[in-house]
Amino acid sequence: MTTERIQYEFQARKGQTIFRQGEPGNEMFVIERGQVRLTIGADGVEKEVAVLGQGQFFGELSLLGDAPRSATAEAVEDSVLLCIGRDVFRMMVQDDLDIVYRMMSIQGQRLSQTNQPIQQLGAQLVRIRIATYCLRQLRAAQQSFPASMTSTALAGILGQRTDAVDMTLADLAGRGVGEFAGGRLTVASREQADRLIEVVCDYAEGR
Ligand code: CMP
Repeated sequence: MTTERIQYEFQARKGQTIFRQGEPGNEMFVIERGQVRLTIGADGVEKEVAVLGQGQFFGELSLLGDAPRSATAEAVEDSVLLCIGRDVFRMMVQDDLDIVYRMMSIQGQRLSQTNQPIQQLGAQLVRIRIATYCLRQLRAAQQSFPASMTSTALAGILGQRTDAVDMTLADLAGRGVGEFAGGRLTVASREQADRLIEVVCDYAEGR
């Protein structure tokens, strides 16, 4: 949605897209009534980052940074929005710098909430990478048992911290893939190595 108008009310019907990620942004919105869902997407996968209600605002980042919309906004229910155009926003900010400070502080809180699942996802990905690397090594044609690998070596190869690798190797041992002691995972048999396939699937499914 684009507009030349400066400040006006906008009625969004349930399910209506208010703007899409990547579009240029020329106004921000305050929710007078209703609810709005914000999602970010990549490769066709949409992820909800916030659902905002009465009195909350969104769409300010494009105005502050002159950047494309960082998320898609959709009305969850019939909603009434106050739209504030770029020029009015600029005047408001020039008149009262405190507005920007308060906005950034609220957006900071929202972003730190978004960061939590990202951190979890990052940790999950590291576990999967470590386990997958071990799986490759163990399934190599000439691999004989017992086979072992150390946290220090894996940390170097995969560019991870040794304590993170330690935790994953200890977890693998706890799930039946060999024994972990002194920073070394020892896998005694082909059966234990095969167990690793199940564990990688569990990691991928977040278990
Ligand atoms: P803008 O980038 O203009 O358009 C999308 C809006 O969604 C953005 O401004 C913020 O107001 C809001 N937004 C973007 N990312 C997040 C997030 N992670 N959490 C909450 N709100 C967000």
